[in-house]
Amino acid sequence: MNSILKSDFLIIGSGIAGLSYAFKVAEHFRLKNEKISITIITKANEEEGNTKYAQGGIAAVMKSTDSFENHIKDTLVAGDGLCDESVVRIVVEEAPERIQELIAWGTNFDKNQQGEYDLAKEGGHSDSRILHYKDFTGNEIERALIHQVEDHPFITVLDHHFAIDLITQHHLGITINRKTPDKKCFGAYVLNRKTNKIQTFLAKTTMLATGGIGQVYKNTTNPTVATGDGIAMAYRAKALIENMEFVQFHPTALYNLSDNPAFLISEAVRGAGGILRNRDNYAFMQDYDERKDLAPRDIVARSIDAEMKKHGDLHVFLDATQIDQEKLQTHFPTIYNKCLSIGIDITKNYIPVVPAAHYLCGGIKVDENARTSIVNLYASGECSATGLHGANRLASNSLLEALVFSHRAYLKGVEDIYKIGYQQNVPDWNDEGTTIPNEQILVNHTKAELQSILSDYVGIVRTDLRLKRALSRLKLIYEESEELYKKSKLTVSICELRNLRGIAYLITRAAIERKQNIGLHFNSNNKNLKFKGTANT
Ligand code: FAD
Ligand code: SIN
Repeated sequence: MNSILKSDFLIIGSGIAGLSYAFKVAEHFRLKNEKISITIITKANEEEGNTKYAQGGIAAVMKSTDSFENHIKDTLVAGDGLCDESVVRIVVEEAPERIQELIAWGTNFDKNQQGEYDLAKEGGHSDSRILHYKDFTGNEIERALIHQVEDHPFITVLDHHFAIDLITQHHLGITINRKTPDKKCFGAYVLNRKTNKIQTFLAKTTMLATGGIGQVYKNTTNPTVATGDGIAMAYRAKALIENMEFVQFHPTALYNLSDNPAFLISEAVRGAGGILRNRDNYAFMQDYDERKDLAPRDIVARSIDAEMKKHGDLHVFLDATQIDQEKLQTHFPTIYNKCLSIGIDITKNYIPVVPAAHYLCGGIKVDENARTSIVNLYASGECSATGLHGANRLASNSLLEALVFSHRAYLKGVEDIYKIGYQQNVPDWNDEGTTIPNEQILVNHTKAELQSILSDYVGIVRTDLRLKRALSRLKLIYEESEELYKKSKLTVSICELRNLRGIAYLITRAAIERKQNIGLHFNSNNKNLKFKGTANT
């Protein structure tokens, strides 16, 4: 019998969604003088995840000349008709309060000479409303949150612990499907990477805060931990998943093939005056959208894709040379230094840029309190689909979404916890008949193959034939990798491959089912082409 770990609250993931939720729950009970246990598990080092890499900042209405209505309208326009307007309103109106909390927890945001917050502008925003800390806002938020959480008496953080599967009635021998009304989550099976043992973590409430899926593509701004584990686990546990076809490609990742993740050149550089140019020095965005370089991301990424295909180029250029030199160095130090390290002085030279997979708008369907379709299972942050982003996320709305929904999950969770007990008789993870894998090469190659299929066939521009081909290739990958998974003692890379293949399937299937071009989904065989570019290929 393996050891069983019990906690009132189990949180999977230590980015902005997981940490802010943990801290709120912990403080609630500390102030009430009631002892509870909160366990955060995270698959790598505590700070690793998309949050740490966020550059541009966090959007909120912070000045009297801006308005909630404007932020709501911009979010709805970017979302291309698929946002849930009531959710958009909730997020935008609750934003200032959540930002004040972040500040109270020790997060720094840049201020101008008048002592007011220095609000930046990004694509799709009608006003300057992005709070930022130079160009490493996410790192600053993550630092402040870890500081709050690390010595909290009610919180235990277990790094290098990888969640494999959620525990549900299925593990008690009861058949469930996506329509079963009262599916319940009892915790998770977790691979302790330090001991290589799979442990049972029982919890009254489980929160999925596992972040993004970028690594399902070859070129992504997401770190290597972003393999969609939470969404894949929730899907296997029969939770509802939605809007998986809406993968946001950031228009401007640095073109430098040796980087994984691809290094981001923040949209804030275009917000400060940066201009996209093709090989002929032509500022091509004027041909595609009247908002030019600050059009919403789906349009800018597709325009770049079209320009690259038209000229047969591997990248376009971002020209930041007309931005004040001092501003470039003080506001964008990470970008300035990274480019300099590969011989590009951005005050003088153009930056080669290419779109890269960046953000998933869909995910685990949740209600306005972050509850999934499985009882006692919540999801917040990038792994969730709240209805905020619709078919395309507005820049800098995702850190905000995580804060708002983790707050709402906390309010519901602390109320409900008294009604929930630990599930009895949960069996240990069964790995009978498995052996230590000695074919890592198969895992690596299959992962690379999967990334190529998604990048080439289910990328920025899709076609019926490419999608059909992707699906048939993915079926083969499923069969081969399932055999590997069933026969092997589990490793993180085998589990990640299992999750990535699930994510790849969900994106491809959703893309096939979506017959209208909308937001980030663009299939050149669909009737409504919508896009002004000449190269719909
Ligand atoms: P993450 O921060 O990704 O955290 C996920 C956590 O889950 C990690 O700790 C990970 O290790 C853990 N985890 C995953 N799977 C498992 C598992 N199986 N077992 C255990 N632990 C697991 N958004 C903005 O609003 N503004 C920006 O300026 C901005 N810039 C960005 C720049 C870059 C380069 C990137 C990549 C993203 C950016 N985004 C930005 C998006 C934003 O950063 C993310 O959407 C957000 O940080 C997600 O937070 P999260 O807490 O949901 O997930
Ligand atoms: C950026 O800085 O361009 C990223 C902003 C975001 O993804 O919201």
